[in-house]
This record gives sequence, structure tokens and C-alpha cells, in this order.
Amino acid sequence: MVDVRGMSGGKQFRLGLLGSGKGSNAAAIADACASGQVPAQVAIVISDEAEAGILQRARERGLPAVFIAPGKLRVKLDEAAGAAYIRALQEAQVDLVVLAGFMRILKGEFLRVFAQRVVNIHPALLPAFPGLEAWKQALEYGVKVTGATVHFVDEGVDTGPIIAQRTVPVLPGDTAATLHARIQEAERVVYPATIAALARGAIRVEGRQTVWQ
Ligand code: GAR
Repeated sequence: MVDVRGMSGGKQFRLGLLGSGKGSNAAAIADACASGQVPAQVAIVISDEAEAGILQRARERGLPAVFIAPGKLRVKLDEAAGAAYIRALQEAQVDLVVLAGFMRILKGEFLRVFAQRVVNIHPALLPAFPGLEAWKQALEYGVKVTGATVHFVDEGVDTGPIIAQRTVPVLPGDTAATLHARIQEAERVVYPATIAALARGAIRVEGRQTVWQ
């Protein structure tokens, strides 16, 4: 059994947000922290894209936001970049690494350093439709219900223990864009709620099972 560290000794629970895109999840999480809905603070926001909206949204909110170059690989961080990400997150003393549209696969040393302390949001009901553009995969497959999944990150792609899921209907006439927008609305609800529970130390992991207590 693994205890996900919650707040201890009155110290604020610190989040490191990683993203590559426009940052709607990061903004929702930061706002939920600011309003007290999530008992945590955003300690740092990091992007692998220098011009990403997530950095802009963080700066608008007065949060530390940095671009760290991902290195020479296409889908992963190379070794030097991985070390730079670890260093920045450790210097910011983060308790939980929150992937919010971070489009690189994290592996090896990163996951050893932050064991059981990296979470991701995926825009489908895993284990259906892992990988890229999951909302398009769901639309093309013809499912009637899809949604968003929050899960711990392990060495696989979108395979870690599931913490929470929220469903959304696929409606007649949906396009990839309308369906993705509906899923993102669900993400902005389920992700802050899950992070709040993690910050309170209210989630326990037993193998593949996560227990809300
Ligand atoms: C979100 O929909 C998230 O689920 C997805 O990227 C989007 C980022 O949007 N993540 C993945 O597809 C990860 N495989 P945002 O930048 O507005 O939060």
C-alpha cells in the first residue's frame, strides 16, 4: 500500500504543473487553489513550448512560469532535459507533479524521483482510447459516452492507476472540436476535485486500486 503524501504539519501542499498547450486545466487548477477549493498552491508551471498559452496564463496569475527546452527527442525529454525538469521541480519543493496537457512521455529517473507523485488528465475514459487526440478516436469509433480520466503516471502510456473519471455524452452532430470542448469542461471539474483530495491525503493506492477515504 502506498500513501500519497497529503498536507503535513500545516505546510502548504505544493503543485508543479507541466503543460504544452493552452493551459485551460492549469488555469482551472490555479484558480481553484486561489479560491481555497483546492488546499494547495501552485509552486511552478513548466512548459516544453516557449510560447505555450499555459505559461501566459500562469504569468497573468502571478505564478512562476518557465520554459525548459525538451532536448532533441520528439516524444520524450532527453536525459539532460529530464534532469533540468527534476531540478526545477525539486527547487520549487513540489509535493505533486500535475500534467495538464503535457505532450511528452515521462519515464525512468523522473518517475523514480517522483514515484506515485505524478498525475495526468486524459481526455477519454481509460483504458479506452489512450494516446493522442483521444476525443477524435472516440468520435471515430462511434461511442455514445466518453469523458476524462485522472490517473497516476507509470512507465506506460496512459496506463497508471485510475483515480477519477467523469463522463460526457457524445451528441448527434458533434465534431471533434465540440466534443473536445465538452470533455474539457468535465476536465475542469474532475481535475481540481481530484487534486484537492490528493492534497488532503485522502487517496490511497493499493496496486491498481485507488481508494478515496
Ligand atoms: C486536455 O484536454 C488534456 O486532456 C489533453 O490535452 C489537453 C490540454 O488542454 N491531454 C492529453 O491529450 C494527454 N495525452 P489545456 O492545455 O487547455 O489544459
